[in-house]
Amino acid sequence: MTDINTMNQAALGFSQASDKDILDAEQVFGAHHYGRLNLVVRKTEGCWLYSQDGSKYLDCLAAYSAANQGHHNPKIVAALKNALDGNYGSVISNVVYTDVLGLFLKKISTLVPQLGLRFGKEGNKALPKNGGVESVETAVKLARYYGYKSKGIADGKQEIIVAGNNFHGRTITIVSMSSTPKYKEGFGPLTPGFKMVDYGNGKQLADAVNENTCAILVEPMQGEGGMYIPEQGYLKTCREVADKHDLLLIFDEIQVGLGRTGKMFCFEHENVVPDAIILGKAISGGLVPLSVLVTNSALMDMVFKPGSDGSTYGGYPLACVAGIAALDVLVDDDLPGRAAKVGAVLKKRIEAVAAKSSHVKEVRGRGLFIGIEVKSGDAMVFCRKLLDLGVLANDSHGHTIRISPPLTINDEEMDYLVERLEKVLVD
Ligand SMILES: Cc1ncc(COP(=O)(O)O)c(C=O)c1O
Repeated sequence: MTDINTMNQAALGFSQASDKDILDAEQVFGAHHYGRLNLVVRKTEGCWLYSQDGSKYLDCLAAYSAANQGHHNPKIVAALKNALDGNYGSVISNVVYTDVLGLFLKKISTLVPQLGLRFGKEGNKALPKNGGVESVETAVKLARYYGYKSKGIADGKQEIIVAGNNFHGRTITIVSMSSTPKYKEGFGPLTPGFKMVDYGNGKQLADAVNENTCAILVEPMQGEGGMYIPEQGYLKTCREVADKHDLLLIFDEIQVGLGRTGKMFCFEHENVVPDAIILGKAISGGLVPLSVLVTNSALMDMVFKPGSDGSTYGGYPLACVAGIAALDVLVDDDLPGRAAKVGAVLKKRIEAVAAKSSHVKEVRGRGLFIGIEVKSGDAMVFCRKLLDLGVLANDSHGHTIRISPPLTINDEEMDYLVERLEKVLVD
C-alpha cells in the first residue's frame, strides 16, 4: 500500500494514496462503526467536497451542522494559522490561564441570551469540552448535582426526563437515555436515572415528574430522530413543567443551534428560555473539536468546583481561537438571517419538487434544516442516487433525506441541488 504520509508531494489533499488503498486501510485497520457512502473526500471548500479525480460534490450534510460557516471558512482558517504561526495554539496545562480561553468563554456566554432567569440575571457561564456528547455528559452532571444540592434528592436517585427518538451522542451514559436499540444492545450495564416520554407530548411529560426528577433534557427540534419540529407550545409546556416542579430545563442545540434553523438559537423560535444549553459542531466552524455547556452563572457556580470536572483538551487554545472566529463569522455574516431567508426559498422549491413526486411523504423543516420524508421509509436509496449526481446528503432516522448545507449556500448552488433533487425524486 502507498505510504499515506506523502504530504510534500503534489496531491489533491493529504496524500496520493488511491481511493482503493484508503477503503482497504479502513476495512483492515478501522472499526466499522459507520456505514459510509462510497466517497473519499480529499479537499473541502465552502459548500463543496472534492474527490481525487477532481469530481465535486455539493455538501448538503455539512458534517451534521459542524460546517455551518462553510468548509475552510477563510476567516476561521486565518485565525488558526495565526495561532499556529504565533505559537499560541498548543494545549497548555489547565493549571494556568490562557487569554484565549477567557475571551472565548466571554464571547459564548454573552452571545447566549440570559439563561435560567429564575436563578438571577448575573449573566451566563460556559464550560468547554471536546465534542457534543461530552457536553451532554456535563449537562447530566449539572442536572444531577442541582437535584442533590438544591432539591435535596438523595444522591444516586436523581432522574432526568428525556424524549423518545432523541439523539444526544453515544457514550454509555448518553445511550442509556436513548430509545434506539442499536446504540445500546450488548453495551450494558447502562446508566440509570432517565425517564423517557414521547417527544412533543406535554401531558406525558407532566405526568412523568416525581420527587426524584431534577431536569428535563430535550432537543428543541430533533435532528437524528427524523427532523421533527415539536408542535407549537411544546417547549413552553416544558418550561412550565420545569418551573412548577423546580426542574432544570436543558436544551441540546448541538445540531440545530448556531444559525442552522434560521435563528442563532433554535429556542428563539418559541421564545422559551432554558436553564442551560448545549452547543457543539459549528461552534468551531468544523475545523477543530469544541463544545460547551452554557448556563446561568449561579447554577454553574453551584455545581462545578475545582476537581469536579475537567478535560485536558477542553477549551485548549487552538479550539478557542477557532471558537471565537467561528462565532464572529456567524454574527458578522448574519448566517442565522441568511439561513432563514435562503432556507425559506429552498423549502418552497423542495415542496414544489415534492408535489410532482410519488415518493415524498412530507417536507418539513426550518431555516436550512429541511427534511424530505420518503414513503418507502428508505431515504438512503435516494441519497445514493444524489451522490451519483454530485450531492452529498444522508438520512435522518432512515426515512428522511436530510438537507442541511452550509449556511453560506448561494443561489447557483441551490439551483444545482434542486435540479438533482428533481432528477431523483420525480419519476
Ligand atoms: C442533538 C445532538 N446531540 C449530541 C450529539 C453528539 O455530538 P458529538 O457527535 O459531537 O459527540 C449530536 C451529534 O450529531 C447531536 O445531533
